[in-house]
Formats: sequence, C-alpha cells, structure tokens
Amino acid sequence: MKVLIVGSGGREHAIAMSVEKSPKVEKIYCVPGNAGIAQVAECADIKVMEFDRIVEFAKEKEIDLTIVGPDDPLVGGLVDALEEAGLRAFGPRKNAAILEGSKAFSKELMKKYGIPTAAYETFDNAADALKYLDTAKMPIVLKADGLALGKGVLICNTKDEARNGVKEIMLDKKFGTAGNRMVIEEFLTGREVSVLTFCDGKTIRVMSSAQDHKRAQDNDEGLNTGGMGTFSPSPFYTDEIDRFCREKIYQPTVDAMAKEGRPFQGVIFFGLMLTEDGPKVLEYNARFGDPEAQVVLPRMKNDIIEVMEACVDGTLDRISLEFEDNAAVCVVLASKGYPLKYERGFLISGLESFQGRRSYYVFHAGTRKTSKGIVTNGGRVLGVTAKGPDLKKARANAYKAVEWIDFENKYCRSDIGKAIDEVK
Ligand code: AMP
Ligand code: GLY
Repeated sequence: MKVLIVGSGGREHAIAMSVEKSPKVEKIYCVPGNAGIAQVAECADIKVMEFDRIVEFAKEKEIDLTIVGPDDPLVGGLVDALEEAGLRAFGPRKNAAILEGSKAFSKELMKKYGIPTAAYETFDNAADALKYLDTAKMPIVLKADGLALGKGVLICNTKDEARNGVKEIMLDKKFGTAGNRMVIEEFLTGREVSVLTFCDGKTIRVMSSAQDHKRAQDNDEGLNTGGMGTFSPSPFYTDEIDRFCREKIYQPTVDAMAKEGRPFQGVIFFGLMLTEDGPKVLEYNARFGDPEAQVVLPRMKNDIIEVMEACVDGTLDRISLEFEDNAAVCVVLASKGYPLKYERGFLISGLESFQGRRSYYVFHAGTRKTSKGIVTNGGRVLGVTAKGPDLKKARANAYKAVEWIDFENKYCRSDIGKAIDEVK
C-alpha cells in the first residue's frame, strides 16, 4: 500500500513511525512533513489547507490511504475532498469534524444526549454575554466557538477578567471568526485525562489513556501551550472510571453523532476532567492529540493501518486494540520564549543517539533540514519519548534521553509526569 500523511508535527511523525511498522505499507508520503518525517517518508512541499494540490498529489502517486493529522484540514473538509475524488481517507468528514470545530455544537450535542459536561450558555453577541456575567459565579471559563490553535479558552478568576475576555473574543476578534459565537461555562476542578479512541461511525475502540501538560513552565505555571509533555497510561484513569466513560460518554457520543446524521469515522479525542461528581467532557477533538500520540502510539501493538482501514470500512467491531503493559513519557523540547517569541535556525545535535534504540524516540515537531544539518524551525522543536516498565522508569529514561540532544535556546519542563509521585 501507498500511504499519504497530511501534517508536519510531532503527532504526524508518531503516526508515520507507526505506519512504517505495518507490513502492508510499501511507501509513505507526507505533506508537508518535517526533517524527522523525511527519514521514513517522501515529503512534498504542499500545505495542509491546499486541498486541490493534496488531491492531485494523492491521485498522481496512486495513494491507497490518506491519513489527515491536524484539525484545520479535517474541519475544513479535506476528507470530503479526497472522497469526492474517489480516494480513501482516514479521518472524519466535515460534518463530523464539527465535533471539534464548534464548541457550541459539541456542547449542544452533549446537552441533548445527556453526556456529562460543564454547565454552559452559548452567546452570539457581546452584550448578552456581558449581561450574563453580572450574575455568574467566578471563576468561569470562556471559549471561542471555533478553532483557535488551542488558545481560544480563557479561565477567568474575576468579573473584570471575564468582561475583558468577552471583549477580546467577541469584539476585538482576538481569535478571528472563531469568536463570532462563544460558550461560557462552569469552571470544573479535578485531574485532566486525555483518552483517544478509534471510531467507525458505530463502534468505538479505546486506546490507552494519557495526560498532557499544557502550561509552559514547571508546576503548571506560565502560558498555555500546545502541550509540553505527556505520559501514558494515566494512573488516575481507573478501571471504574473507564467503565463509566465507556457507558456514559464514549458510546453515547458515537451514537449521538450517528443519530444526527454525522457518523464519526476517525479518532475522537476525549478531553476529560475527573471531577468529584464523576468524569465530565471538557472538550472533543477530532484527531490524535499532540503530544498524546507520541506516548500512546509507540505502546500500541496493533497494525495501525488495519485499525484505520476498519474505521473507514465500518468493520471496527472485528478489531480489539492491544497495548504493551508498560508506560511512556514524552518531554517536549521547545525554543526558549515559546509560546510567544522565539528564534529559529539553531543547529540540533545528538539526534543520532536515538538510532537503533527500541524504547527511545525523538519525534520532530519544528525542524528543518539545511546544508549544515537539521535546525530548529518552530516553538516546539522535538518530542523525546521513552518507554519503561512503569511510569517512573519511563520518566527517568525520557529525561536521560533529553540530555542527548542539544541546541541553542533548548527549553523543556523538568516536571513532566510529576503527578505520578502522588500515586501510592
Ligand atoms: P480546551 O481547549 O477546551 O481543552 O481547553 C483548554 C484547557 O482549558 C483544558 O485543557 C483545561 O485545562 C481548561 N478548561 C477547559 N474547560 C474547562 C472547564 N470547564 N473548567 C476548568 N478548566 C477548563
Ligand atoms: N495535546 C492537546 C491537543 O492535542 O489538543
């Protein structure tokens, strides 16, 4: 088979490494890819929103399956465009990717089908939203309706902050048209967990759980980022919680989407908060998480292509997922200044240390190949993942491997997986 992967981050590198293990695959292409992906795939310089060029490329290369990684092309309908051209694609169609593309849609869906989530109201003008804040309890959470690079969520402790937030989202359009509508919701407390699942429109199969670290600095301080590190599995995601989520959240979500005439085929990422009143959905994503994929996929024993084809064909009921009985930790190496201002173009050393090691991975996120070598080319540069027999050993291995890599302005959190120490 010939497989095309769409995207250029650490997530797509992790997908590419899993695809490479499939005996069914003879050739991998990636658009646009990065310097790490280029080691396993032939990359072409086409951007993820250039649908016509992607379709043309897939036809020309006789691609058997296209895997769409990021949210923007999924929400924009790349899968539909590929299917209209008679090509097979893994990922939700536009009418299903709205589960991530519109927070107002996903909240309404959860309310309609009784799926546990934070209480909320939707607003399409600033005046009503501001009036609502007069009587609302603080802290409170403001969410721009549409995609905002993971930055459209504001947690406000005071009414002044919240009023400013409403203005930023709805009047100043800080997140562009994503802020034409907004959701204001109850602030939940608890431990967060990310659960990735495969869906074929009817059946859902649950992958091993993970936990992300979104803030830029240690002790969850600093600005929100795309994710500074992950571990899998989450020891806080117990069998009891898993049973509850399967019955009350996962299958009901898939059934609800089918009932709405929007069958979801692809990956649903459930962002959950484990509250005192039980697990609640914080958000849905219509794709693998980044950097969740970097700890979940290396632990998956299945042939990823078989699972993805089952999602496309509606035969996922015949597949059972299997994960290694171990743990993985991913530490993101960023450029100092991320997520605000940072420099690019610094030479990266030590990448070769990962070659030939089975339990260590260096996933490229923002890198570029130049004549002098591979250089930094983004805020998040690399994701260093290591496995181990348990979380503590995996974490020690990951931090050991972080030392193998060097580049100017290298920055990472030193406490990824610290929560593990709380487990008795
Ligand atoms: P989202 O993009 O919806 O995942 O939100 C980004 C982050 O904001 C989440 O990972 C949570 O840490 C936080 N968050 C979102 N919704 C809530 C909520 N209702 N209560 C508390 N924290 C939240
Ligand atoms: N790591 C969170 C996300 O991919 O949205």
